[in-house]
Amino acid sequence: MSKISIPSLMQKKQRGEKFAVVTCYDASFARLVEKAEIEVILVGDSLGMVLQGHDSTIPVTVDDMAYHTACVARGCSAPLIIADLPFASYHSTQQCLDNATQLMRAGAQMVKLEGGDWLCDDIRLLSRAGIPVCGHLGLTPQSVNVLGGYRVQGRDDDQAQRIINDAKALEAAGAAMLVLECVPRQLAKQISQTLAIPVIGIGAGAETDAQVLVLHDLLGITEKTARFVRNFAQDSSSIEHALQRYRSAVLDGSFPAAEHGFD
Ligand code: KIV
Repeated sequence: MSKISIPSLMQKKQRGEKFAVVTCYDASFARLVEKAEIEVILVGDSLGMVLQGHDSTIPVTVDDMAYHTACVARGCSAPLIIADLPFASYHSTQQCLDNATQLMRAGAQMVKLEGGDWLCDDIRLLSRAGIPVCGHLGLTPQSVNVLGGYRVQGRDDDQAQRIINDAKALEAAGAAMLVLECVPRQLAKQISQTLAIPVIGIGAGAETDAQVLVLHDLLGITEKTARFVRNFAQDSSSIEHALQRYRSAVLDGSFPAAEHGFD
């Protein structure tokens, strides 16, 4: 597989072809993800929960993210690597630029940050500085204490309209991709059709341009999983096989199924 670029993912969207994204935190799994031809790796701050055993992503630091990004980058060459800017690492514009720079130097090709139109100045600056940005709207786990739990977002009209406005604002500011987490499937469909940039869904129904799952969830390692997760290790002969089945199911539209989404 040749190196996956952001323009090549844009072209997939234009052609109506889906792509798969999975979280990954180390070199060994990155090698397997690459062998399964999964297009994008997200070094997610979910590592705070699945690797470090915390009950949220809030304790994760930029150094943690840089360490795991470097591990992943040593294990693969083709997938596009996105790294999360963790909690409290982009409170000021200079802090955002410095921390994003650290993640890019560690091996990321894009950084992801959680939040709406208040991030537009940061996104403009990062893009101008050669740092591609992925937005993240809907359920934003770094704000779990504001949201009051891990709940579906955008169910009422006001909230849905705010998410649509934020999505448009992030794109206009230069975001090159967007994650939508735990939103009703109709809202995710509308945003995916409205934006030119690829929209990656998790718990957002089948009509986004791509899907992401946490690696440990799709391998059935996590003790308690959300409704939008499918265990691809069940009935698979190896981890690589589970990853291949995940990618195939995303590409042929059989994952997520109706029971994985929200109305
Ligand atoms: O940190 C993470 O793994 C994420 C995904 C759940 C989208 O942000």
